[in-house]
Amino acid sequence: MRLPDTGLNAFEAILARRSVRSYRDAVVDRNTIGSLLEAAVRAPTAVHEEPWAFAIVQDRQLLQRLSERAKPLFAEEVRRAGVERTGHAFNAFASPDFNIFYDAGTLIVICARPIGPFVAADCWLAAENLMLAACAMGLGSCVIGSALPALNLPEIKAELSIPADYSAIAPIIVGHPSGATPATPRKEPLILGWH
Ligand SMILES: Cc1cc2nc3c(=O)[nH]c(=O)nc-3n(C[C@H](O)[C@H](O)[C@H](O)COP(=O)(O)O)c2cc1C
Repeated sequence: MRLPDTGLNAFEAILARRSVRSYRDAVVDRNTIGSLLEAAVRAPTAVHEEPWAFAIVQDRQLLQRLSERAKPLFAEEVRRAGVERTGHAFNAFASPDFNIFYDAGTLIVICARPIGPFVAADCWLAAENLMLAACAMGLGSCVIGSALPALNLPEIKAELSIPADYSAIAPIIVGHPSGATPATPRKEPLILGWH
């Protein structure tokens, strides 16, 4: 599938990126995923470790199963952390109809071996590169942090071909947006000092 050339420059892509939670059925093709991974691995990486590795899931039944496995685990994690918020974001986890991947056809899990103190930082920088590249290609994306407890279960890692000594760090869904997503607000940057 040929993707629209949005012609966005880097700053425009940063402003245009949204967490997209509604997708069309069309699946993102292999070449496009290759381009997204190419963008991901151009991220800065501490001591040039390049610790990242990627597990890609496009099997819809598997995505559905992962969602079902993830919901109670994440709800329990939120409960244990004593998070007070009871907004729709957390209530949704009790609904059998809620798919934590929003029916996106592609999940990219950025993984790493814990070989140094900056491994997670590297993976999150790769994640942002990937999401900005997706935005510039007219694709939507969203971080699905709520999938992490399930993705790090030994049996799920084995099913996704993630070796035991790797951890899932940044799960990102990607797909063709079914419509426009409004921007979320941001506070002004809090400047603590400017000496
Ligand atoms: C670490 C992390 C975890 C997140 N996990 C989820 C998630 O599980 N489900 C979800 O719908 N959005 C998730 N998000 C997306 C945020 O809700 C979203 O980035 C935020 O509301 C700001 O909206 P925007 O990305 O459209 O600017 C996550 C974002 C981050 C950075």
